[in-house]
Amino acid sequence: MVDGPEKVARLELNAVITLNNEVSPWLRILQVSPDGWDLPNSVPGQYTTLGLYGCTPRCALGSAESSPPEPTKLIRRAYSIVSSPLVRDFMAFYVSLVPDGVFTPRLFNLKIGDRIWLSQRITGSFTFDHVPADGNVILIANGSGLAPFVSMLSTHLELSTQRRVVLIHGVRHSWDLGYRSTLMAMQHLRPHFTYLPVISRPASEPVPWKGATGHVQDVWVNGTLERACGFRPGPDTHVFLCGSPHMIESMTDVLAREGFVEQTPNKPGQIHVERYWPKKAEPRPAVPAVLVASGEGASLRKSG
Ligand SMILES: Cc1cc2nc3c(=O)[nH]c(=O)nc-3n(C[C@H](O)[C@H](O)[C@H](O)COP(=O)(O)OP(=O)(O)OC[C@H]3O[C@@H](n4cnc5c(N)ncnc54)[C@H](O)[C@@H]3O)c2cc1C
Ligand SMILES: NC(=O)c1ccc[n+]([C@@H]2O[C@H](COP(=O)([O-])OP(=O)(O)OC[C@H]3O[C@@H](n4cnc5c(N)ncnc54)[C@H](OP(=O)(O)O)[C@@H]3O)[C@@H](O)[C@H]2O)c1
Repeated sequence: MVDGPEKVARLELNAVITLNNEVSPWLRILQVSPDGWDLPNSVPGQYTTLGLYGCTPRCALGSAESSPPEPTKLIRRAYSIVSSPLVRDFMAFYVSLVPDGVFTPRLFNLKIGDRIWLSQRITGSFTFDHVPADGNVILIANGSGLAPFVSMLSTHLELSTQRRVVLIHGVRHSWDLGYRSTLMAMQHLRPHFTYLPVISRPASEPVPWKGATGHVQDVWVNGTLERACGFRPGPDTHVFLCGSPHMIESMTDVLAREGFVEQTPNKPGQIHVERYWPKKAEPRPAVPAVLVASGEGASLRKSG
């Protein structure tokens, strides 16, 4: 989340919405074009920041705000870049609406031609930089966590590579599977790429769903992944996880049990993660009255 105090009095909204595709009422593909400046270079998997002023109206699906931001405050949030760095005219973003969020209900109100702030700073280490040239890769996303993978696939899926690439995308419903037809076409054209969509609420489907169901970690543990891609990923495979912190925690536990290690700035590993928001701390248990009375509660309360 990027919403620190704004140092510049009023930043210019320096970019324009040039495409606004509704995937579902809660999912948008937005194309943002710089107005009068050139996009900086980026690497697939990196992210940048979008910004809008507090005075931007909220969309109809957004819930009412109890304490709205100052109208002149620039609200900023990080977004993975969906488009390939090979595209120089615009950057695309794939965004989920958080109905009670501050930024997305405003973003979802924008129309083609509306102005937005697009940061010229591109950052992030969620890239193929640490993956050997022919190393197999499994990309795992839930919801809009798909975003960086579309950029990686559009850039790195050369015909010449020996690399096996699998994308597992978990969503609630089949209609939340953004980029599905593009990914199916990629799978048809690139035999070394496997696309494995997973839906968690099949009972709501208008026609019976023939694919995988459950959460992304289910297809890893129940053999669906091996059947779909023809190999069992071992710890020489790099695994990229992107989306909700709950999915990432749960998937990391599954992988750790199989010997995978998380990559950190100081330690090489095969698990690469991009958390879209921090996991909320579990509510602390109330201090039992008996401990407070005996004096132990005082130290418990101090440490908490
Ligand atoms: C590096 C990075 C890249 C990101 N890329 C993307 C992207 O490509 N697409 C995208 O949709 N989001 C992305 N995000 C999340 C994005 O920055 C915002 O947090 C999100 O859009 C919500 O903003 P908001 O102001 O509407 O909600 P806020 O008011 O900031 O958040 C309210 C609360 O909602 C929860 N929340 C946040 N995001 C979600 C979500 N998607 N689903 C459910 N609950 C959520 C959190 O608990 C958060 O504290 C990325 C975040 C990071 C850190
Ligand atoms: N009102 C609606 O109908 C509706 C529809 C779509 C989105 N939205 C809103 O849009 C926002 C973001 O939606 P989103 O598409 O980014 O994400 P999402 O729909 O909340 O989740 C995407 C997928 O992740 C799964 N998931 C949940 N917990 C998991 C875990 N611990 N491990 C692995 N997978 C897990 C979900 O399964 P589950 O089915 O188990 O949750 C779902 O299949 C939310 O604020 C949501 O309220 C609302």
